[in-house]
Amino acid sequence: MKKPTARPTTLFITCASLLLACSQTDKTNTPQTSTTASPATSPSASASPGGSAAGSSNNIYIGIGVAQTSNVALLGQEQVAGAKIAEKYFNDKGGVDGTPIKLVFQDTGGDEQGAINAFNTLINQDRVVGIVGPSLSQQAFSADPIADRAKVPVLGPSNTAKGIPQIGDYVARVSAPVAVVAPNAVKAALKQNPNIKKVAVFFAQNDAFSKSETETFQTTVKDMGLELATVQKFLTTDTDFQSQATNAINVKPDLIIISGLAADGGNLIKQLRELGYKGVMIGGNGLNTSNIFPVCKALCDGVLIAQAYSPEYSNLINKDFRDAYRAQFKKEPPQFSAQAFTGVQVFVESLKAINSQSKVSQQPLPQLRTNLNQQLLLGKYDTPLGQISFTAEGEINQKDFYVATIKMEADGTNGKFEFLK
Ligand code: ALA
Repeated sequence: MKKPTARPTTLFITCASLLLACSQTDKTNTPQTSTTASPATSPSASASPGGSAAGSSNNIYIGIGVAQTSNVALLGQEQVAGAKIAEKYFNDKGGVDGTPIKLVFQDTGGDEQGAINAFNTLINQDRVVGIVGPSLSQQAFSADPIADRAKVPVLGPSNTAKGIPQIGDYVARVSAPVAVVAPNAVKAALKQNPNIKKVAVFFAQNDAFSKSETETFQTTVKDMGLELATVQKFLTTDTDFQSQATNAINVKPDLIIISGLAADGGNLIKQLRELGYKGVMIGGNGLNTSNIFPVCKALCDGVLIAQAYSPEYSNLINKDFRDAYRAQFKKEPPQFSAQAFTGVQVFVESLKAINSQSKVSQQPLPQLRTNLNQQLLLGKYDTPLGQISFTAEGEINQKDFYVATIKMEADGTNGKFEFLK
């Protein structure tokens, strides 16, 4: 079990005394770095890990290891957007006491091996101080142990399965777990439709998060005195759900609950409606993106999804984040963007707290990574998600949760998440 301790005394070692490169060299395998800070120097590929000071090219490198390709990019692209807004926002405010942060993006793709590769590159080649990622819990269970063994702090931006913070001492998350978030959707469905009695549940059996979330949904259904009439399984790679959808419709459910990811989940919603299901539907956290709209189009309308973020949360930093997001994307910021922003924020504020005691730029990278991991667990953060902190294990403490319903316009193309009061 993790125990945060008082921040340890840090070592004062100059670049010269480290005998390792303090000026960064360009890499042949240059990662995608965002363009909001200058100079756009890539982190060093030549120095072996474990020696050089962080921030040594006048930047502090923070890794963003999320899905930029594959179906999981339906979530990951929202995370990239949120992280980039955070990079500009905090650099405009002076970065870490004058030292800019620089995000280093490595694409995890949608599977475990992609996440492992991205994490290894961020840790050993890009030499980041910490990582925000990966997109999926399924990936986190494979990639996070690598960061943990390398003593590199990880903040899960969207990993909501049971057991994520318990992966290791260096793993925490800014994404509230399924047990806290998911029941809100069932309660909201019953409030809207008190006559719901019979429930059908679907889940993706090849996805760790979906398996975890469905357990919470199924327990909630039973605890609320509803009948769990059928449980249907599918794969996140499936595109045809005719047989499972027919099985579920045959039991005449009043409510259908889906735990899957965006592409499969969107297709399942579509096919359930096409086969004639007219009752209430709940989508889980993996469907919490407007990127499902092009999949289920007008048939997405009315689906309920619990939220760990509200664009209307009224604190200053959310106002700034929301304004920046809306200016760029002409719509309200989604939960996955807000959580990625928050991950970067936690690293930046923790680095500032460390820097106030001993200069971050003079700490050897391994020492700084360990200090950062210990510091982040001690802080309190006023974020777009509201006030958050962490348990000793790295679980997020968050107070405010919401439920939204999808409202599609008649054209079936444009839609939005409308928050329930
Ligand atoms: N919340 C989803 C997961 O944990 C995206 O995988």
